[in-house]
Amino acid sequence: MSDKLKVGILGGTGMVGQRFISLLENHPWFEVTTIAASERSAGKTYEEAVGDRWKMTTPMPEAVKKIVVMNVNEVEKVASSVDFVFSAVDMTKEEIKKIEEEYAKTETPVVSNNSAHRWTPDVPMVVPEINPEHFKVIEFQKKRLGTKRGFVAVKPNCSIQSYAPVLTAWKEFEPYEVVATTYQAISGAGKTFKDWPEMVGNIIPYIGGEEEKSEKEPLRIWGEIKDGVIEPAKSPAITCQCIRVPVLNGHTAAVFVKFKKKPTKEQLVEKLRNFSGLPQELKLPSAPEHFIQYLEEDNRPQVSLDVDYENGMGISVGRIREDSVYDWKFVGLSHNTVRGAAGGAVLCAELLKAQGYITKK
Ligand SMILES: NC(=O)c1ccc[n+]([C@@H]2O[C@H](COP(=O)([O-])OP(=O)(O)OC[C@H]3O[C@@H](n4cnc5c(N)ncnc54)[C@H](OP(=O)(O)O)[C@@H]3O)[C@@H](O)[C@H]2O)c1
Repeated sequence: MSDKLKVGILGGTGMVGQRFISLLENHPWFEVTTIAASERSAGKTYEEAVGDRWKMTTPMPEAVKKIVVMNVNEVEKVASSVDFVFSAVDMTKEEIKKIEEEYAKTETPVVSNNSAHRWTPDVPMVVPEINPEHFKVIEFQKKRLGTKRGFVAVKPNCSIQSYAPVLTAWKEFEPYEVVATTYQAISGAGKTFKDWPEMVGNIIPYIGGEEEKSEKEPLRIWGEIKDGVIEPAKSPAITCQCIRVPVLNGHTAAVFVKFKKKPTKEQLVEKLRNFSGLPQELKLPSAPEHFIQYLEEDNRPQVSLDVDYENGMGISVGRIREDSVYDWKFVGLSHNTVRGAAGGAVLCAELLKAQGYITKK
């Protein structure tokens, strides 16, 4: 019998779910044994349920094709077949909150890609290189849920991954005011050009709820555990505009920053190039060797050249220049469905396993 942890993907037929399935093919620690989706897909094989909706560029892994899809809402049945689950279901926020806690209460850890629990005070929202210590709040959450091993952990929104790691690397220079404009790929809406032809040659200056997430979520990541909950940081002030652009994968951010302790360009570049965290130290299977690369060329980072840096788990930064109104400006790029979604969640699960939060049932 395999030593790997048995994992279920809730919402496995969707865009993010498919990305989980692709990333977990041949994973050294985790094996996808269960896939669950809506009642529309339940009872069909994964291959039948997905049909022509397979959106990855690599083929569907053979190992999952014949798995019979379960209904996400049959919590006990799904939970009894796995050690933990990844959640990527698209339901209402209230439904997601409820069902993720139901899974946790069956003693099944939930590592979620959804936003529903991002502001639940005792749920950690983690970028493993930035705030791994927030997993300690799980002990308080378990007390609330009355569980021994079940909990919910989440990863933050895809839009912040192109600038929050950068600002973290520059923390000692005390950034206090940030203006960010994000240029977001259509896969962030679960779409390709085939199913969203109106996006060809188009820009849409609105992504529901995205600006609030982009402004507030970094502050929660930089927060501290106090009295059993995460208390968000109060600074820097961040203001954002989020724009949908005709790009398949890759969120770009153009960012302006004011610092209390004004650094030189050399210091900024050096901090980015040397930034690493616990995933690198522990050599977690999905950890990028270098989390952030700095590109000197004036025309980088580019989506087509740089989005897959470190298999989509790294961040590419360029164009650090002095600004006439702010102190410094830069451009960041990250892969929204890898680092920004499924890959970020897989890295969280690897760290949770390494730290003993996720074990065999
Ligand atoms: N795309 C991204 O880059 C991204 C990034 C961050 C967060 N997210 C979030 O991740 C979640 C999934 O996004 P997605 O783009 O993968 O969506 P998607 O492609 O529309 O997939 C949705 C998944 O949820 C299932 N589902 C839908 N309604 C359901 C119901 N009532 N009960 C049970 N299962 C149901 C679907 O099953 P069927 O196939 O059976 O319908 C499918 O597996 C969303 O909450 C989204 O906001 C997405």
